[in-house]
Amino acid sequence: MKQVLITGATSGIGRSLALHYARNGFSVTACGRNEARLSELCNHHDNLKSLAFDITDSEQVIEASSTLEAFDIVILNAGDCEYIDNAANFDGALFKRVIGVNLLAMGDLLEHLIGKIRRGGQLVFVSSSVTYLPLPRAEAYGASKAGIDYLAKTLAIDLAPENIAVTLVQPGFIKTPLTDKNDFSMPFLLTAEQAAQRIYVGVEKRKKILDFPKRFTYLLRLLACMPFSWWCWLLTRKNK
Ligand SMILES: NC(=O)c1ccc[n+]([C@@H]2O[C@H](COP(=O)([O-])OP(=O)(O)OC[C@H]3O[C@@H](n4cnc5c(N)ncnc54)[C@H](OP(=O)(O)O)[C@@H]3O)[C@@H](O)[C@H]2O)c1
Repeated sequence: MKQVLITGATSGIGRSLALHYARNGFSVTACGRNEARLSELCNHHDNLKSLAFDITDSEQVIEASSTLEAFDIVILNAGDCEYIDNAANFDGALFKRVIGVNLLAMGDLLEHLIGKIRRGGQLVFVSSSVTYLPLPRAEAYGASKAGIDYLAKTLAIDLAPENIAVTLVQPGFIKTPLTDKNDFSMPFLLTAEQAAQRIYVGVEKRKKILDFPKRFTYLLRLLACMPFSWWCWLLTRKNK
């Protein structure tokens, strides 16, 4: 039986991924901090087991990873989003929190998990399509995910000799507790189940970059082709 580890499996995309992999015959190690939600999840399928730890706590990462054996796939999905509501009064603590969980935590996770991935295995990062274009209030979230993009792409080069494939996932808007907080319209919103299905198929195909839904990500890519000064003008003209 193939083994997959998924961080951020207590809700949203990670939870749907855990259930999807379990139904497809994988043995799934589902991770998160919330033990009650992890045990509720594990009741859904015999192939699911839980591992509770905080990815921002080095000691917890070391202890949790010491209990693990080998994996075919490791999916680093856990993350959070908080917006900078007043850039002129920049919230440094918020910035540190978001960069901490989305980007800095990757250091400990990679140090202790890369060695657990079998030769021929896969490492998957869940980034975001936010990185195609600078979007209002996304200073912290966007910077953290831009860091993930660079990290994943360099690891795709440097882990190739170890026969470990890297997939960078860049989803558009997905309906989860993370986006339920958003107070703006989210075009082409997908369900977490739809996202999990697309990630599962793309990872099976060993795609290097996996972005969806295409009708949204192509639009963002097209907009990203315009000069940055035009993009700034478009987003700021309402405030003048
Ligand atoms: N939803 C979207 O539209 C969207 C779009 C693009 C990218 N993404 C990315 O997709 C990933 C999953 O997001 P989601 O929308 O599914 O969000 P979500 O429903 O809020 O789930 C976030 C998960 O991350 C875990 N997590 C957060 N902080 C953690 C910590 N310090 N230690 C361990 N686990 C932690 C949470 O578990 P606990 O609370 O139990 O720890 C939870 O399982 C994130 O990286 C997000 O940036 C989401």
